[in-house]
Amino acid sequence: MSVCSSSSSSSSGYLGSAKAWIVHSIVAGIAIGAAFGARSYLGRSKRFRSRVVGIIPARFASSRFEGKPLVEILGKPMIQRTWERAKMATTLDCVVVATDDAKIAQCCKGFGADVVMTSESCRNGTERCNEALHKLEKKYDIVVNIQGDEPLIEPEIIDGIVKALQAAPDAVFSTAVTSLKSEDAFDPNRVKCVVDSRGYAIYFSRGLIPFNKSGKVNLQFPYLLHLGIQSYDSKFLSIYPELEPTPLQLEEDLEQLKVLEHGYKMKVIKVDHEAHGVDVPEDVEKIESFMKERNLA
Ligand SMILES: *[C@@H]1O[C@H](CO)[C@@H](O)[C@H](O)[C@H]1NC(C)=O
Ligand SMILES: *[C@@H]1O[C@H](CO)[C@@H](O)[C@H](O)[C@H]1NC(C)=O
Repeated sequence: MSVCSSSSSSSSGYLGSAKAWIVHSIVAGIAIGAAFGARSYLGRSKRFRSRVVGIIPARFASSRFEGKPLVEILGKPMIQRTWERAKMATTLDCVVVATDDAKIAQCCKGFGADVVMTSESCRNGTERCNEALHKLEKKYDIVVNIQGDEPLIEPEIIDGIVKALQAAPDAVFSTAVTSLKSEDAFDPNRVKCVVDSRGYAIYFSRGLIPFNKSGKVNLQFPYLLHLGIQSYDSKFLSIYPELEPTPLQLEEDLEQLKVLEHGYKMKVIKVDHEAHGVDVPEDVEKIESFMKERNLA
């Protein structure tokens, strides 16, 4: 298997267009500068957790949207759009699609993606990433779990969470948040997050946190919306699926709470991103009209 046998598969030339995407990194210390440039064979030993793989888990069966990864968005399969965005990230040595489905695998190979076949028994994207990681021939220090249903994910966000994890040796997990719109305050499908003064996650909830004494949304408060993208220390990923479920995780039905309840630290970066997740068939039309408005092809 030749999947990701090359160590320099990430695309070059994207740095020039790096827009001002971090609204403010919640912690001052994210070493953005340090992480740029030094991606050489020589520089390897200098950077903590330097080897990074991006994995796009994709399954065909879905209770809410059968065949979702292959749905066309303005004429291109959604999984291809996600993959193209991921390939633009400068911190990834390699990007692979992990799937249990022959049709998805065939489609992805068709547009040039590396594919790892995973078993049908994977219960969620995290488990699929873990299985794929162990099937790759190379070793990686960080795995970025890139959800295939966010076809407009900015490569800068991928790079941001990778750099955050490289700069925070005490964290095993990193993820991103953006500003919560007030109309989403009480929507349980929009997950909220609170962080400490150094940008480590304190808690995630489907309810509004923090909760203003008045019972209403405080329009002055910078509430945070959690984005699905996450990256893990690869040693942590190997034990994550096996960690016992925890009470808060089960009550909120949020996997990431298990990490915090077991006492692990999670680094959070704040980014400027309009979430356009595709969860149900109706979302396709919404994202297409958004893309047409912005002239995104
Ligand atoms: C709650 O929100 C209001 C504005 O809606 C704000 O004035 C107030 O300081 C907030 N906190 C408390 C404890 O009321
Ligand atoms: C994946 O789902 C299973 C079953 O719902 C759960 O036990 C497991 O904790 C999940 N994986 C992770 C990494 O949380």
